[in-house]
Amino acid sequence: MDDHKPPEIASGIYWVGVVDWNLRDFHGYQTPKGGSYNAYLIVDEKIALIDTVKAQFSGEMLERISQIVDPARIDYVISNHVEMDHSSSIPAIMDVATNAKLFASSKGQAGLAEYYKEEGFDKWDIEVVGTGTELSLGKRTLMFIEATMLHWPDSMQTYVKEDRILFSNDAFGQHVATSKRFDDEVEDVMEDAGIYYANILLPFGSQVLKYVGKLKELDVSPSMIAPAHGVIWRKGVQRIVEAYGRWAHGDSVAKVLVIYDTMWGSTEKMALEIVEGARESGVEVRLRHLRKNDWSMTMKELMDASVVAIGSPTMNNGMFFTIAGFLNYMKGLRPKDKKYFLFGSYGWGGGAIKAMEKEMEDARFELVMESMQVKFRPYEEDKEACRNIGYKLGEIAKENAKS
Ligand SMILES: Cc1cc2nc3c(=O)[nH]c(=O)nc-3n(C[C@H](O)[C@H](O)[C@H](O)COP(=O)(O)O)c2cc1C
Ligand SMILES: [Fe+2]
Ligand SMILES: [Fe+2]
Repeated sequence: MDDHKPPEIASGIYWVGVVDWNLRDFHGYQTPKGGSYNAYLIVDEKIALIDTVKAQFSGEMLERISQIVDPARIDYVISNHVEMDHSSSIPAIMDVATNAKLFASSKGQAGLAEYYKEEGFDKWDIEVVGTGTELSLGKRTLMFIEATMLHWPDSMQTYVKEDRILFSNDAFGQHVATSKRFDDEVEDVMEDAGIYYANILLPFGSQVLKYVGKLKELDVSPSMIAPAHGVIWRKGVQRIVEAYGRWAHGDSVAKVLVIYDTMWGSTEKMALEIVEGARESGVEVRLRHLRKNDWSMTMKELMDASVVAIGSPTMNNGMFFTIAGFLNYMKGLRPKDKKYFLFGSYGWGGGAIKAMEKEMEDARFELVMESMQVKFRPYEEDKEACRNIGYKLGEIAKENAKS
């Protein structure tokens, strides 16, 4: 039935992905809004499929393609990225489209060989492509662009020159499940794209800047950016590219982020006073209890904060386990140019502060003030000290904001 046709994002170019409404955890990144895996079908003299979906949804993708053409007629399958959310339905497609040729970057080919030995990789007709390689579909020309470390070594993108559509794979994505396909049809798209950047692309700022430069060199100025997750950018193309530039540069605002956990409320009391002091200094403040907030959202808060205060009670001679986990996660994402302060409550020998200091050295944040510890419970004078510290942190946040 014609009215069941998948969304046509441009003449002859269809979205044939799937919406994963119940996705709540994407390899550890919490996704309260769900997600999608976007695949795209271009119908020209040759028929090309750009990326696939998570294997569990391959039937749904094939059904969607069938509403446009018989999947057996697919000539070209473009694998922009070997990660499973985009490649694990390639075996299902290659089984049906027996004459299809597969295209991938050189590292992409190597990755596909390792992942899909048992699914028939050896039988696939695969061609390695690189930046600038073109593939004619008839009226349209695909051009490939290697997007190394955005976010894996194999990552690649595909540009349709005539339509000026950039199929950007993981770059410019957002984890959100929606029946809408475009950025101007949804709310909070910049916020969602920021959360995505903070958790997926943050370590690769210098590569992102290099990549943006490469687009200019290649004269790629897309009218649409169609990522492999979330909605397609058509109204906000320039906005999202500029935002990537800012995030990659490590821009921050005058904001104090207070991250903590607590067993009996003492560290929390200190945290609340620090928040109060920072508020009085006039800066933006956020408070995040690590067992009550998603770490992926907390990372987004951290991305544009210029100062972070981290509080932990001592547990078994060390820091509280959520703090340890979060610091480990954060370190891997390598946020830049942050100043920090540590605080917490202990009962006898202590140990949380020392353990946190060790972690923070690795993170290369800059310590701005001596840490503050209280034994068991903060009294009024301790609270006042915390408020004063909060105020000072606010002043430092203003000086350290970077744009
Ligand atoms: C399971 C557990 C283990 C603890 N281990 C230590 C420890 O090894 N060293 C120490 O100084 N205090 C230890 N404490 C005491 C806490 O650090 C102390 O009660 C502190 O005030 C808790 O702060 P909070 O109210 O923010 O949770 C421990 C407390 C609990 C409940
Ligand atoms: Fe990926
Ligand atoms: Fe992905």
